[in-house]
Amino acid sequence: MNYHSEFRRSIDQRDDFWREQAQDIDWIEFPKTIWQALDNGHGQWFPDGTLNTSDVALDANIRAGRGQQTALIYDSPVTDTQQRFTYTELRDEVARFAGALRARGVEKGDRVILYMPMIPQAAIAMLACARLGAVHSVVFGGFAAHELAVRIEDAQPKAVITASCGIEVAKVIEYKPLVDKAIEQSSHKPELCVVYQRPQVTATLQDGRDYDWDAITANAEPAEPVPVKSTDPLYVLYTSGTTGKPKGVVRDNGGHAVALKYSMKLVYDATPGDVFWAASDVGWVVGHSYIVYAPLFSGCTTILYEGKPVRTPDAGAFWRVVQDHKVNMLFTAPTAFRAVRKEDPEADQLNRYDVSSLKRIFLAGERLDPPTYEWLKEHTGLPILDHWWQTETGWAICCNPVGIEMMATKPGSATVPSPGFNVQVVDMAGSQIPAGEQGQIAVKLPLPPGCLMTVWGDDKRFQSSYLDPIPGFYSSGDGGYIDDDGYVFIMGRTDDVINVAGHRLSTGEMEEVVASHPAIAECCVVGAHDDMKGQIPIGLVLIKDGATIDQDELEEELVDMVREKIGAIACFRRAIVVDRLPKTRSGKILRRIIRQIADGETYNVPSTIDDPAILEEISEKFGR
Ligand code: COA
Ligand code: AMP
Repeated sequence: MNYHSEFRRSIDQRDDFWREQAQDIDWIEFPKTIWQALDNGHGQWFPDGTLNTSDVALDANIRAGRGQQTALIYDSPVTDTQQRFTYTELRDEVARFAGALRARGVEKGDRVILYMPMIPQAAIAMLACARLGAVHSVVFGGFAAHELAVRIEDAQPKAVITASCGIEVAKVIEYKPLVDKAIEQSSHKPELCVVYQRPQVTATLQDGRDYDWDAITANAEPAEPVPVKSTDPLYVLYTSGTTGKPKGVVRDNGGHAVALKYSMKLVYDATPGDVFWAASDVGWVVGHSYIVYAPLFSGCTTILYEGKPVRTPDAGAFWRVVQDHKVNMLFTAPTAFRAVRKEDPEADQLNRYDVSSLKRIFLAGERLDPPTYEWLKEHTGLPILDHWWQTETGWAICCNPVGIEMMATKPGSATVPSPGFNVQVVDMAGSQIPAGEQGQIAVKLPLPPGCLMTVWGDDKRFQSSYLDPIPGFYSSGDGGYIDDDGYVFIMGRTDDVINVAGHRLSTGEMEEVVASHPAIAECCVVGAHDDMKGQIPIGLVLIKDGATIDQDELEEELVDMVREKIGAIACFRRAIVVDRLPKTRSGKILRRIIRQIADGETYNVPSTIDDPAILEEISEKFGR
């Protein structure tokens, strides 16, 4: 089997191809229908199949004889803890916690919000929801109370699950007050809140609503997996769009399990027993797919790491984890290795550890810059594999399909489309653009299994965000090109989404926060280049006539507001006061040019610009 024949089969004989992949997971009822079209060109996968995702992840491995194999290793340099769970132990923990939730009224279809640090209870809670057929929605612990409130308002959860605190290097961040504040801000009030008490902080529990995790789990009746339809939602994961309101990406059960199990072979060449480490956070899609679900679907051992690439305690942290747990595949964001490289440019730390178990390093979440690629290649001597994907797709749209055929790598390219993804570079009318020329990267419909079904509670937004922009295609929001050899190069977003240290954020959302300051007349936030984090947001602000405020004071207030409303991870640290913003004659802010000026790039002055002189003023502000 080579890549090209596998790819062609996935497109030309779609149903046969995915029926075969579907045979690789344990169904309660195997689907008769593989794909069913909807009116809008989108479709549903395996609509008449039934399964349970926690059964596929846990019980199926026990049935296959892997009950005593390690399923999950928790490695936490910030608390100096390591803990292992076999498949049987993990299943039992999940079943008991699911039983505890069910005893308090959580049922199939109910939403459950998780606001958790990187502790095993985060994975246990996700799998427990899946066991009940409840829909989890994990909110990254770095988001502020307001962001959590927005998600509670949208998902209308019956329950919230949290821990007493998260630990950021040496900083202990109390979670419960943030949860209380979010519930207070939201008009929807969850019926219950379960709190895992960590030794560092004991959270105060509110009578009648809050429950202690250990207390309710100790004697809980274990829950058996509840059969769900393939198309029933497994989870909602909010991601940044172009507006202030995040989009709830809805993932199904059946397509998700089939696609992720296939991806473990195709993209990562993983087999049962391999130790797979995605150094990310359960709050992101990488954490959902490759810390929790896919490694377990495939009978691997997954690592849940509560630490950073640096400072916990040093730039050797990743290599230490590889050595301690004999990691075979490591997957992280390029920014993590940029941080390591900055502190350990000659990779001296690497020589302190035995990393001979490591077969490959995978990178995604943002563009893999060639210097980071070269540094990793030179110092590890391993295949360094870039792959491109999004919260929406849940697995790689483009990859080096090492499980089928290892292709030559080209720095700057995520290699080739994964089978099932008919990737094309098109203009906004859907016409193909010649090889080597840049355009919109789009996927010809239908999307393969595992991709989003819709936006939670808002089919219209799903249609208008993803399907309407380029008729007949899924619009990725990324621009780039395909070269003569069919290699795909992703050059960056064509919308207002930015990537800060591998975290996807919306400049539109930051603009809403900045604009709410009483002294601000108008503003714009762009993502400027940052050597370590890839991009960081910078605000350009116009002060209202008559408003008297010191510019440094204003900047400080705006920075605090973004931290308070969105969270520290936004890394919004700079607001520059300007007299005017560059606009087209029709009033559209020329964000791309502002970004080019901030990055010191050359730019073309568009003929539609209202007043070209403004560009010089802006350049001066950036010291260009
Ligand atoms: N809970 C609470 N706060 C959090 C948090 C969490 N889970 N994660 C980050 N923060 C806070 C940090 O404490 C920091 O706050 P500060 O401004 O008060 O110092 C802020 O958010 C920015 O954090 P971060 O982006 O992690 O920056 P950093 O300078 O501490 O570390 C890196 C830089 C590169 C080491 C770090 O960003 C990193 O590990 N990146 C990899 C990201 C990744 O894995 N992405 C997953 C997508 S695949
Ligand atoms: P997220 O939804 O958080 O996974 O972010 C998805 C976005 O990250 C994509 O739309 C891209 O802009 C960017 N991205 C992810 N992987 C890559 C990659 N390998 N190369 C370039 N950009 C990437």
